[in-house]
Parts: sequence; C-alpha cells; structure tokens
Amino acid sequence: MKIWAHRGCSQMYPENTLLAFRQAAKIKGLTGIELDIQMTKDKHLVVCHDEKVDRTTNGIGAVKEYSLAELKKLRIDAGNGEYEQIPTIDEVLDLLEEKMLDGFKLNIELKNSRVAYEGMEEKIIEKVHARNIQGSVIYSSFSALSLERIRKLDAETEIGVLDSKVSDCLFKLRGGCGANALHPYWKGIDLPPERIKGYPVRAYFGGHLYPEKPTGTKLAITALEQKGITDVFLNEPEQYL
Ligand code: G3P
Ligand code: CA
Repeated sequence: MKIWAHRGCSQMYPENTLLAFRQAAKIKGLTGIELDIQMTKDKHLVVCHDEKVDRTTNGIGAVKEYSLAELKKLRIDAGNGEYEQIPTIDEVLDLLEEKMLDGFKLNIELKNSRVAYEGMEEKIIEKVHARNIQGSVIYSSFSALSLERIRKLDAETEIGVLDSKVSDCLFKLRGGCGANALHPYWKGIDLPPERIKGYPVRAYFGGHLYPEKPTGTKLAITALEQKGITDVFLNEPEQYL
C-alpha cells in the first residue's frame, strides 16, 4: 500500500500549509503529498481546500474575490501563538522541488468543479513543466472537463479522476476524460477488485483534521488492499510509516 499525506500532515498541523507539507516531507517511506488549488482574483494559484477562506483562516469570503496580497494577510492558527498563511503553489513547489526531482510525488487536485477557474489548467501545467518535475506530478479533479483539458495540454502526465464511488470514477475514465487512475472515496469501492485491477486506485479518507482531537483508530490496510485499493490519502500518514 502506498501512503500519501492528505493536505499534508493535516491531523497534527493545519491542512494545506507549508508547516503541514514540511512535516510530511520528513516522513520516510511516504509516497507523496496531496493538496488542493484555487485561484485568486488576480489569477494566482493558491493552496486551499475550500472555495471560501472561512473555515481555515480568520477571514471570510471566496478565494476568487481576494487578490493574492489580500489573501496573504489572513492568518491560519497553528497553535502556541504561531500562524501560517495560505501558501501559493509556487511556495510549495519551492519546498518540494528537490525531493520531487528525486521521485517524491505531488498530487495536485484542481478544485474547479464548483468554481470553474478559467485558465487554471494552463497555469499549473506551465509551472510544473518550468521546473521539470512533471514526472512526479499527478493531477486530479472531480471535473471530467478539467481533466480533459489537462490531457490535451500534456499527453504524458498522470491523471486521477475523483468521485465518491469507484464505479463513477471508472465510467468517467472510460468516457474519455483522459484520466488513467481512479481516485474514489474509500467507502465507495462498489466494484469487485477484478473490475478495477490494473488501474492505480488511490482512495481518499475523511478523518480528523487539525485541531480536532484524533481518535487513535487505525485502518485495516490489508482489507483495503483486498478491495483493490493501491494507495491511500491519509490525514495522519505518520501513524502508518
Ligand atoms: O484528492 C482526494 C481528496 O482530497 C478529495 O477530497 O474533499 O479532501 O479534497 P477532498
Ligand atoms: Ca483534495
């Protein structure tokens, strides 16, 4: 089973921050990091899960209504009087580039199924190629249309199609969106393993996010493997490696 850090080490540290990514990058044996991108009013790519900043920062409103300079003034509480900012994707790539050139993976989820950020695909592909790290990047989205655009821009890249159920992932993939991998919710494995054999099946989990208290419950990894899951995106990867 390949283990990924979902939004960085997001159980112990605030999700999608440089702090959470730095901690993940230290874990020996970790396959890679998953993160989410949105776009600001002045067209900068930033790393943030929600379309709004309300849940994770001290601000309110939609990411698309903020300029990057305005967004950078918002604070993410990291405990002990410490604060993080919403990072740009450039800052994250600066942090991970060296490791990625060495094979460490980055799954960039384009959060564009609710807000159709025009030009997002071109921007992220250009940034990745400028650093020559395209061999270590997997793009994903719930939007099949966005994945189709990615595939047209990069014929070689790895693409994971997101959906709740693995059957919906498979049928979206077969529908020609250009994806080569299935990224379902872990409870949505509604096909027998032989029907998904041969595809990377990277399952995402809910679980506790900082600063919620962890329960200490551990997943039965072998049972997940038997369902055909090849990779897991976990908030607490450090507990499995
Ligand atoms: O990319 C897998 C997973 O992160 C998708 O769900 O809501 O955590 O972005 P979400
Ligand atoms: Ca995600």
